[in-house]
Amino acid sequence: MTTLKVNGRQLTVTAPGETPLLWVIRDELGLTGTKFGCGIAQCGACTVHLDGQAVRSCVTPLAAVGDKAVTTIEGLDPAGAHPLQKAWIEVQAPQCGYCQSGQIMNAAALLAKTPHPTDDQIVKAMNGNLCRCMAYVRIKAAIKLAAAGQKPAGKTKEGAKA
Ligand code: FES
Ligand code: FES
Repeated sequence: MTTLKVNGRQLTVTAPGETPLLWVIRDELGLTGTKFGCGIAQCGACTVHLDGQAVRSCVTPLAAVGDKAVTTIEGLDPAGAHPLQKAWIEVQAPQCGYCQSGQIMNAAALLAKTPHPTDDQIVKAMNGNLCRCMAYVRIKAAIKLAAAGQKPAGKTKEGAKA
């Protein structure tokens, strides 16, 4: 038995410690928003957060999670209203949608660290998240739209340093 903190809830799972986190999330916890693409850390479809860092859950063993907080696409925003999710809808970023939760989770980690990324920073950060539908232009546009709605890092609403 392993206790995990997933999307703010403390949960107990029975999978062996070597089980990839992806399968624990999907099969045992029923959180199927996180997708299986390649299983070898090459596509980004399985991206979730561990303590806010984007990781590939297909190559993250359950035993390696420890007490780190796991966030999946279902837990990114309780109302599904994260700025990126709103921007994704506004821009109509997805085509088939399969890669999109991984894209959003990776972008969310980027914006948490770099609220106003340059085009180059976006391209570099998103480089490993593949989209077979080639929705890259819309994905980048959605990230820029979400970033435009965010306050500059370290500043209050009035523009003073926090
Ligand atoms: S399924 Fe994990 S990176 Fe492709
Ligand atoms: S929207 Fe189809 S794979 Fe990305």
